[in-house]
Amino acid sequence: MEYQKYFKYLCLFVLCAYLFYLLVTNDYIDTLKPLKIPLITSFNIVNSSTKNFLKIDQENDSIFKLSSITNQFETRFYDYYPHLPIHIFTQNLSLIGNTSKLILLENGLYGDPNWRINALNQSSTAKMTELYCPFLSNHCDITTDYNRFSEADAIVFHLRDDFDQNRAKKNRHPKQRFVSALWEAPPHTPNLQAYDQFFNWTMTYRFDSHIITPYYSENAYIHKSSPFYQLMLNENSTRKLNWKIRKVDYRPSDEILQKKKLGTVAALISNCHVPSQRLPFIQELKRYIDVKVYGRCGELCPSNKNCREFIAENYYFLLSYENSFCLDYTTEKFFATLEYPIVPVVFGQTNYSYFIPSSGYIDATQFSTMSSFARYLNETRYDKEKYLSYFSWKKDYVWGLGHFSTPFCDLCLRLHLDSKPNIIDNIHKWWFDGSCGKVHMPS
Ligand SMILES: *[C@@H]1O[C@H](CO)[C@@H](O)[C@H](O)[C@H]1NC(C)=O
Ligand SMILES: *[C@@H]1O[C@H](CO)[C@@H](O)[C@H](O)[C@H]1NC(C)=O
Ligand SMILES: *[C@@H]1O[C@H](CO)[C@@H](O)[C@H](O)[C@H]1NC(C)=O
Ligand SMILES: *[C@@H]1O[C@H](CO)[C@@H](O)[C@H](O)[C@H]1NC(C)=O
Ligand SMILES: *[C@@H]1O[C@H](CO)[C@@H](O)[C@H](O)[C@H]1NC(C)=O
Ligand SMILES: *[C@@H]1O[C@H](CO)[C@@H](O)[C@H](O)[C@H]1NC(C)=O
Ligand SMILES: *[C@@H]1O[C@H](CO)[C@@H](O)[C@H](O)[C@H]1NC(C)=O
Ligand SMILES: *[C@@H]1O[C@H](CO)[C@@H](O)[C@H](O)[C@H]1NC(C)=O
Ligand SMILES: *[C@@H]1O[C@H](CO)[C@@H](O)[C@H](O)[C@H]1NC(C)=O
Repeated sequence: MEYQKYFKYLCLFVLCAYLFYLLVTNDYIDTLKPLKIPLITSFNIVNSSTKNFLKIDQENDSIFKLSSITNQFETRFYDYYPHLPIHIFTQNLSLIGNTSKLILLENGLYGDPNWRINALNQSSTAKMTELYCPFLSNHCDITTDYNRFSEADAIVFHLRDDFDQNRAKKNRHPKQRFVSALWEAPPHTPNLQAYDQFFNWTMTYRFDSHIITPYYSENAYIHKSSPFYQLMLNENSTRKLNWKIRKVDYRPSDEILQKKKLGTVAALISNCHVPSQRLPFIQELKRYIDVKVYGRCGELCPSNKNCREFIAENYYFLLSYENSFCLDYTTEKFFATLEYPIVPVVFGQTNYSYFIPSSGYIDATQFSTMSSFARYLNETRYDKEKYLSYFSWKKDYVWGLGHFSTPFCDLCLRLHLDSKPNIIDNIHKWWFDGSCGKVHMPS
């Protein structure tokens, strides 16, 4: 029995030593992470009831019904899944059937017949791997070969590129999904009145689309504790993919901070004549604090540097304003900025806390006067800890496991999981009515 007692002490000692080790090495944060159980498992997502931001309605087959985005960042759900449904539904791949769906790209994407997918003439495995969903290799294929029209389960049309609507109408069969894809905001998209009852699904950055295509996918970040990240790591090692993640600072060094000498605020604007309130806003802000404009509307960046990188090296805040204030419209102006050591200042018709924790950006619409907004920026600039706090959310995320066309992985999933027929009666109305407007500007 003596032996048992000693064993107990030995265990205790080993445990203490381990805890001590974790504390001194600071590893404990990472070690504890996997112990946190996400609130959501596979299809049981929605029901935080009071706070259902992503509502998935299973009652009548429309598994993917995304609605009522009433942002509640305090739920773990938000932390884990800032963006694409694929991150959720891949938790249980056995729900996807054994069959393979065919996606036909009917026309090009801004003239690129391959929609920025380099592997388009290669195997489905190569394609799906490029899109960061190799686990769907046997479940979907993507083609541009019009001869396969009748085989296709989905036909995707980019509404900014031309296509022959009559030919498509003539060839379609009722089981196929016609998918309308758009990345631009309504002021930059064509009239859609010719498409009543033509499409079955929408594929846009708007959260109420059937397939959501946020610009996030090009600058994708994934929560390190999410099951999706585990899946990605697993794929990376079992398939020997050699995926690289990009290093993003969650606490910019003193050296980086000390180099920021050119000023407080910068903006990067390439299109000066757009229907937004950007320039008047900047004129007004300039009365209270230094603001420098780069891009075609201002000064040129040094030609040997990425402009965003240059601004991040030399300024404290980047005004990440969109050229259109439209529902959910959030582009690389925001997402690309997140990879640099600079704090994004947002101003738009999006609740940005859908994408990142609100501790990561400053929302200009939340200030009642321009002078209080400017004062806040100046204070934050000179308060090192406060300034650095805007970066700390990044320590929980990794960057780099995404591609502009990753939303095709979502389309693939939806083709498998949602069999409910759907016809979009009036896509013009859905897209244009009430979707863009003025944003509250500090006075
Ligand atoms: C969701 O939560 C509400 C309230 O807690 C409950 O009444 C309802 O049955 C739940 N729905 C599902 C699908 O679990
Ligand atoms: C099916 O879903 C639609 C849209 O959410 C809803 O309006 C309808 O009541 C649902 N039907 C049934 C039978 O639950
Ligand atoms: C974003 O959503 C959160 C949670 O619903 C809310 O508290 C916050 O006020 C919203 N922000 C804006 C700018 O509407
Ligand atoms: C995945 O779904 C299948 C079928 O619904 C179920 O039998 C299985 O337990 C699920 N696995 C997990 C890990 O949730
Ligand atoms: C899946 O495919 C395999 C081989 O291709 C087959 O043996 C199996 O029965 C299929 N499973 C289902 C659920 O269709
Ligand atoms: C695919 O196309 C690229 C360039 O268009 C070409 O270099 C490559 O050899 C092609 N690959 C296959 C498998 O046909
Ligand atoms: C993927 O695997 C390679 C080789 O083992 C490794 O070097 C790389 O860091 C892994 N990528 C990720 C994202 O873990
Ligand atoms: C910004 O804050 C610094 C330090 O508190 C102060 O000296 C300076 O006058 C302020 N500048 C503006 C424009 O408010
Ligand atoms: C797609 O839309 C067409 C045209 O409105 C309709 O005839 C067809 O039944 C729909 N198919 C599906 C699968 O939703």
